[in-house]
Amino acid sequence: MSDSYLRLQNVVKSYDGRVNAVDGVSIDVRRGEFLTLLGPSGSGKTTTLLMIAGFEELTAGTLELDGRSLANVRPYRRNIGMVFQNYALFPHMTTETNVAFPLKMRKFPRDQVRPRVERALELVGLAEFAVKYPRELSGGQQQRVALARALVFEPDVLLLDEPLGALDKNLREQMQVEIKRIHGEVGITTIYVTHDQTEAMTMSDRVAVFNDGKIEQVAPPLEMYHRPATYFVGNFIGDSNFFDATAVDADAGTLAVDTLGEITVARRDRGTGGVRVHALIRPENVRLIDEDEYTQGLNVFDMSVEGSVHYGDSVLVIGRIGSLPLRVRVPGAQAAAVARPGQLRVGWRPEDVHLIPRE
Ligand SMILES: Nc1ncnc2c1ncn2[C@@H]1O[C@H](COP(=O)(O)OP(=O)(O)O)[C@@H](O)[C@H]1O
Ligand SMILES: [Mg+2]
Repeated sequence: MSDSYLRLQNVVKSYDGRVNAVDGVSIDVRRGEFLTLLGPSGSGKTTTLLMIAGFEELTAGTLELDGRSLANVRPYRRNIGMVFQNYALFPHMTTETNVAFPLKMRKFPRDQVRPRVERALELVGLAEFAVKYPRELSGGQQQRVALARALVFEPDVLLLDEPLGALDKNLREQMQVEIKRIHGEVGITTIYVTHDQTEAMTMSDRVAVFNDGKIEQVAPPLEMYHRPATYFVGNFIGDSNFFDATAVDADAGTLAVDTLGEITVARRDRGTGGVRVHALIRPENVRLIDEDEYTQGLNVFDMSVEGSVHYGDSVLVIGRIGSLPLRVRVPGAQAAAVARPGQLRVGWRPEDVHLIPRE
């Protein structure tokens, strides 16, 4: 299929022959795409990258790059660049010798080495640091060297395993922009691993959410946020309110929530009566309702406020409707209205409720 450049099909990895660290993963990575593997620690992201790079064998399943099987292709013959979380630079080598290393390994002609190293260092903004040693560089600079080293032989695919995990927040954001710029300039197919949802949301063309060795959903960031396919994804990405509900009236688009009574949902979500769902409402889609406001068509409830957290630009209000916990995010300008514990009228639009099937 033309849409698939790197194809993983039913890939399984067991380290001990009992538990599957990666448990039947299938993804079609598109040429030039920036795909992020997002998931909690231990969900199988690194193992998946190591199998793509050829450093770990598959227990089952297949890997194809540009239509060709990678089964018997050694790591350095795969033409895949990889950057690890800990920079893994050679401490006794200068920047340029570190970057030249993969070229020597791959026996590039001598006269190609210098111009390639220079171009790679220029790309990552380190031209003046060619003769420095890793210990003379900051964490961010070391990670740029690692990036240059992964790109210098013009790999078909670039794999990045939590490359910014060791950097502080400001530097991390700077490097996120930098990596995206480089991706745009080189156009290389990139698989990026992180457990940081913000990083995944801001950098990726598509995100694959990992949970316990399996993929829960692969989708562009906004789709993932607004239409999560599973409870896990809705919970893992962004802030959420979930109500366990049952469809009561299929045609009218209503749901029964145990302790809330009935709520209205968009008609596109109507199912057959009796279907059990998780109803998801994002805190920023719940708003304060004025005394005299016209509320027909909205879901409106009285909320008892238990506390609030001020972020400056917004306020997170925490409380309950009935016995159910509810989180509401209001603009910072409304801080006064939610300042004290007490009762608030809150509401949301039926189309802002997203339904996920529940077993
Ligand atoms: N070399 C290894 N030997 C045995 N078990 C491993 C090895 N590497 C990872 N695991 C296990 O495989 C699972 C997935 O790990 P990993 O792929 O590193 O997850 P992630 O990168 O998402 O944090 C974890 O349970 C981990 O303990
Ligand atoms: Mg990992």
